Amino acid sequence: METNLKIDLTKCIRCKKCIRVCPAQVFSLSQSGEEVLVRHPENCIGCGHCVAVCRTGAVLHPEYPASRVHSINRAKLPAPEEVMLLLKSRRSNRAFTDKPVPAEALEQILEAAHRAPTASNMQQIEFTLVTDPAVLKKVIELSTGIFSAMARKLNNFLLKPFLKPFMPEIYENLPRLRALQAEFKAGKDPILRHATALILIHTPSDNRFGCQDSNLAYQNGSLMAESLGISQFYTGFLCISLQQDKQKKICKLLGIRGTIHAGMALAVPEFPFPNYIDRQKIRVQRF
Ligand SMILES: Cc1cc2nc3c(=O)[nH]c(=O)nc-3n(C[C@H](O)[C@H](O)[C@H](O)COP(=O)(O)O)c2cc1C
Repeated sequence: METNLKIDLTKCIRCKKCIRVCPAQVFSLSQSGEEVLVRHPENCIGCGHCVAVCRTGAVLHPEYPASRVHSINRAKLPAPEEVMLLLKSRRSNRAFTDKPVPAEALEQILEAAHRAPTASNMQQIEFTLVTDPAVLKKVIELSTGIFSAMARKLNNFLLKPFLKPFMPEIYENLPRLRALQAEFKAGKDPILRHATALILIHTPSDNRFGCQDSNLAYQNGSLMAESLGISQFYTGFLCISLQQDKQKKICKLLGIRGTIHAGMALAVPEFPFPNYIDRQKIRVQRF
């Protein structure tokens, strides 16, 4: 990225912190050691660390004018035990009411997700927020339709003898597919579980870290949801159907051109969980 990056030498106190934090070696010290120089602006990935670390506002970055720089009051950061409590409290609570999730809460969840890091600071993540009940219904129908087609194909008596040896794990999951179809036929929603909002997280298909970036965004958003008292769960079934959706029906419905990597079903919970439970014993290798 070619940037019009400059150091205001009248403000620079030569603390060299911009040199220390820049991941792309954009800055270096002059031979005399007196001046910080912008040596390789073409390497800049726009992460803004140089601006964020500068106490005097000496780094002039065209992407980060003063209006986009905010001081951090570190005394206001949550204490480690508060962060841990949030992590322990976050659950996939699927006991939903049909009240709509307040628009401000959805915006905060999106903002939290958008704050997640991205590989090489690409920031290519896009979100699709669905709250229209008719569109949610269509997504559920398309997703279950894809599973039905999958089940038909897997059970086809001509194909089965050839497919089964190559994909035993998919055949092991056939009973789950059948259960999902049965639930749908009984008027239930096995995909979004009657959530009133859906956030899909997607990137251009050629983004090599699109999946990682999207799932980091997901987790940020889910923690914000928990702190707002909004329920969420990861829409794994929907993601599987998206992977199988060769005709891209769901993407077309929503006008999404890239790849959807993660989905969050959201709703106002019927009740909060009063307890958290322990996970399995942690498995860590230590050297
Ligand atoms: C990749 C992934 C896919 C998931 N897919 C679904 C899903 O399709 N439907 C659902 O109800 N929950 C889904 N979940 C939620 C998990 O069942 C849940 O995270 C797990 O049981 C642990 O519970 P907790 O989230 O409350 O800690 C998924 C979670 C992950 C991480």
